[in-house]
Amino acid sequence: MKDHLKENIRFVMKTDLRAGERSASGLPELLGANSRGRIGLVIDKGLYDNNDYCQEIATLLNDSLGQVVLLINEMVEPSYDYLDEVKSKFTEHDLDCFVGIGGGSTLDLTKGCATLQTNKGRAIEYRGFGKVRNRPLPVVALPSTAGTGSEVTPYAVFIDTVEKWKFGINTEYNYPQIAIYDPGLLDSCPTHIYASAGMDAMTHTLESYAAQNATPLSRIFSIKAFRLLFKNLKKIAGGDRSTGTKLDLLLGAGCAGIALMNSGAGPSGALSYPLGVYFDVPHGLAGSVFLPSVIKYNVGKGYTEYSELYDLVFETGTTSPAEKSERFADEIEKLSRELGIPTDLKGFGVETEQDLKLIIDNSMQLEAAFQQNPVKFGKEEIEKVVYSLR
Ligand SMILES: [Fe+2]
Repeated sequence: MKDHLKENIRFVMKTDLRAGERSASGLPELLGANSRGRIGLVIDKGLYDNNDYCQEIATLLNDSLGQVVLLINEMVEPSYDYLDEVKSKFTEHDLDCFVGIGGGSTLDLTKGCATLQTNKGRAIEYRGFGKVRNRPLPVVALPSTAGTGSEVTPYAVFIDTVEKWKFGINTEYNYPQIAIYDPGLLDSCPTHIYASAGMDAMTHTLESYAAQNATPLSRIFSIKAFRLLFKNLKKIAGGDRSTGTKLDLLLGAGCAGIALMNSGAGPSGALSYPLGVYFDVPHGLAGSVFLPSVIKYNVGKGYTEYSELYDLVFETGTTSPAEKSERFADEIEKLSRELGIPTDLKGFGVETEQDLKLIIDNSMQLEAAFQQNPVKFGKEEIEKVVYSLR
């Protein structure tokens, strides 16, 4: 962790956060007061088809605002080509802002559409860091899964079908202006999405906590996120779908996103990319498969700061940081199992030596994330973790 007494640190948080039961129903007033009410509305298809409350919000917006241009996102992981295809739906309408309702991919797609209304050309031209020249239209983000934290971060990730890799349109301009955490939007969330999205957020929080670039400020969010996520994912595993549990999970995932963008990702986040791109594994699930092994590896190499997190949720019975960290690693593995996260790579079609090599070699593209790990994590260590999951 960076020591703010020895070096300057930066902490960024640019999104206006709102949370509470039926908080999304205040959208028409919020948007009407701040614009002419001409909005681009992007909604996840599964959510739109299965969540009555989401449809109620869409109808409310349509009935009370000047113009609503609706796009139903049908892609689980949108590509740059898809972004080009859908952005033109909005261009003729002289919109004021965008509202995105859905999981991380839908929120990323919303940010992409908002960017391409004010920045001309093909989406792929904006791939990377700092390529966006003009400020995008403002975005209001309403997550329907407790996972990516896209509602508070400036990243929008798309698949580059030519290079076969996932890259972000990453710009300081791309923070959503407002994020609304409304538990009603999780009403139709299937159990396996609670699990994969929740463990994605858990990956963000634990890797941001342990990252070399973590700061005393980012850790406040990592710690709070861990507490909220661990307790409430246990409840989810036990069948609890109460409003309080859903809202706490959303807040936990949001805090994890804030922590992540102010510190850095780690090995599990990086390894999730080749598993997603080459084996079509959804992002949340892809990172969660690696998380318990990476934590165990770190603890085995003497990293004991997980003990602070262990103390937050367990009666200790021991004073040894090493012992607490070992128990912590076991508890994360147990939580992952309780949520039904696969414990090996076979279930994803990763079977041959060649498949394993594909993951290992391609994960090296994200070397910076491995360097963030609190103990050395080079190619040899990547191989160890990947082969242990074969
Ligand atoms: Fe993630």
